[in-house]
Amino acid sequence: MIPKLGSCYYPEHWSETQWEKDAKDMIESGLTWVRIGEFAWSRLEPEEGAQNFKWLDQAIKVLGNAGLNVVMSTPTAAPPRWVVDKWPDMLLVDSDGRSRKFGSRRHYCFSHQGYLQESSRITRLVAKRYGKNPYIKAWQLDNEYGCHNTTLSFSASSESSFKLWLSNKYKTIENLNESWSNVFWSMEYNSFEQIDLPNLTVTDANPIHELDFRRFSSEQVVKFNRAQVLIMREHTKMPLIHNYMGKITDFDHYEVGNDLDIASWDSYPLGFLEDRSTQNEDFKLKFMRFGDPDFQAFHHDLYRTVGCGRWWVMEQQPGPVNWAPYNPEPARGAVRLWSWEAIAHGAEVVSYFRWRQAPFAQEQMHAGLQRPDGESAPGLTQASQVNSELKEFDGIQQVQSKVAIIFDYESCWAWEIQPQGKDFSYFELVYEYYKALRSLGLSVDILPPNQKDLTGYKIVLAPGLMHFDTDLKVAIESFEGVLISGPRSGSKTLDMAIPKDLPPEVPGVVGTVASVESLRPNASILIKAGGSFNRWMETLVDCDNVIEECEDGRPALIGQTNRLYLTGWGNQEALTRIFRDACLSQNISTMDLPDCVRVRETHKHRFWFNYSEKETNVSSVSLPPSGVFWEPL
Ligand code: GAL
Repeated sequence: MIPKLGSCYYPEHWSETQWEKDAKDMIESGLTWVRIGEFAWSRLEPEEGAQNFKWLDQAIKVLGNAGLNVVMSTPTAAPPRWVVDKWPDMLLVDSDGRSRKFGSRRHYCFSHQGYLQESSRITRLVAKRYGKNPYIKAWQLDNEYGCHNTTLSFSASSESSFKLWLSNKYKTIENLNESWSNVFWSMEYNSFEQIDLPNLTVTDANPIHELDFRRFSSEQVVKFNRAQVLIMREHTKMPLIHNYMGKITDFDHYEVGNDLDIASWDSYPLGFLEDRSTQNEDFKLKFMRFGDPDFQAFHHDLYRTVGCGRWWVMEQQPGPVNWAPYNPEPARGAVRLWSWEAIAHGAEVVSYFRWRQAPFAQEQMHAGLQRPDGESAPGLTQASQVNSELKEFDGIQQVQSKVAIIFDYESCWAWEIQPQGKDFSYFELVYEYYKALRSLGLSVDILPPNQKDLTGYKIVLAPGLMHFDTDLKVAIESFEGVLISGPRSGSKTLDMAIPKDLPPEVPGVVGTVASVESLRPNASILIKAGGSFNRWMETLVDCDNVIEECEDGRPALIGQTNRLYLTGWGNQEALTRIFRDACLSQNISTMDLPDCVRVRETHKHRFWFNYSEKETNVSSVSLPPSGVFWEPL
């Protein structure tokens, strides 16, 4: 498979006379895919009962005739004003009970039945009209579920659906009271009807009440997406895609992905560094023009699994964005670097957002591949360069990595609900492990928490995994490689309680968590063999084997050689040291990479990336500034 490039285009933003030239310019720049239509609802249906699809018919024809493959979208992320007037209570309600307003996008509540009908209706219309259109080669459903904090809604529709969901799950109110342990604080209910959403309580709501609400909310996204999938499948054989986001974990992406054919995500390295990275200021300054070298790779690996091997970058940052606290210009060559990092991770398509910068509305300060006047912006030259370089390859094939890390959405919710220390974030924990693996030069696979088969892996990591699923436990039984878990792994039942025999309930690990503590910033507990624990520390007793100890005498690493448990939140020094040893025991060779250099191995190549404006030398390889280098394996 030879990866392709594309861009996001909004024919409704430009005069019809410009479409042909734009399409021709895209082709000449080496782009072969174009995504359209995801926010075009008000132009397709200006008011109830009025339809105008002619312009879109024409736009698709012009783009297709020029040789572009079109990704058509369902426009349901931006319901027009008349839809909101028709269903005023479709608006999402935040946890303070405030309704979100019309005037931007993603303003709908996933549980609203009227909006579900409306979105199914418009989906059916576009599906019928374009499902067999020869120029349309893929479909995007909606746009960035969950973005702008839109998964959880505390609306009346959400509340009534949640009560129903609970009664289906627990059958009787006695069961629910028992599972939720509602004897605590006299929280017992007499009927499902009495149960509210877990917001606006005086102090914390019961954590299982919250966790069930998170599970329910995630399922609402899955159901909303599935309604569109079912309609689309009646009318098209083309692959169905959703464009997920970076570090958005409010719904189970694996579940949504199971209904789709390809996963994609929207990669904004500089926006994400400024907007959602928790790295320190020095790091942010150092990487302000590249983004965090591991953040994109982490999501590439995650979405490769969400898409069962098939994934794209639907939106790639091409220049400064408009939405982060600071919006610097990418380093020269960074757009090329990001594109290659995606390709080396198996992206089938890298599509840039957007073709031309819009001189109006909310995103007028967001760069495109072209400036608003139609001249090329720096990103376009780099995209064309990637396209020429791709000609050297007869395909870029992925291989199973030797190392895998489990990423579980439910654990994200559990530790958000009950962080115990304000900086305990499951995402960050997994990400720190991932970063340490990448710094050792390893390629990594990300696995779901219900992975049935670990064959082929030599090291599997499961930090912070709240509960081990039965399938995973079975897979671990026959797994001959090294399992590294902890902290907080196997520490809760599915009802969000402490297991009867105390954690860790991790297959193959013998020991008992006698107590846990969270640590304030800068507090650390030194590990005798090197490195330290920060943020979180557990006191383990009754361990069958203590491998490493802390300076204060508590166990740091316990277990037998291939079933290890880390008793705290290790810093990078501790993690890389422990992972390096595990690699050594499994005959996996490692490197010691500077933080600006990363590698990725595919079937036939090793790709090197230099996230720095300086030339960097690593072993025998000399990497030019912002350089990408590949060598045959
Ligand atoms: C994405 C979104 C696009 C555009 C872009 C700007 O989150 O899907 O429509 O808003 O961000 O960076």
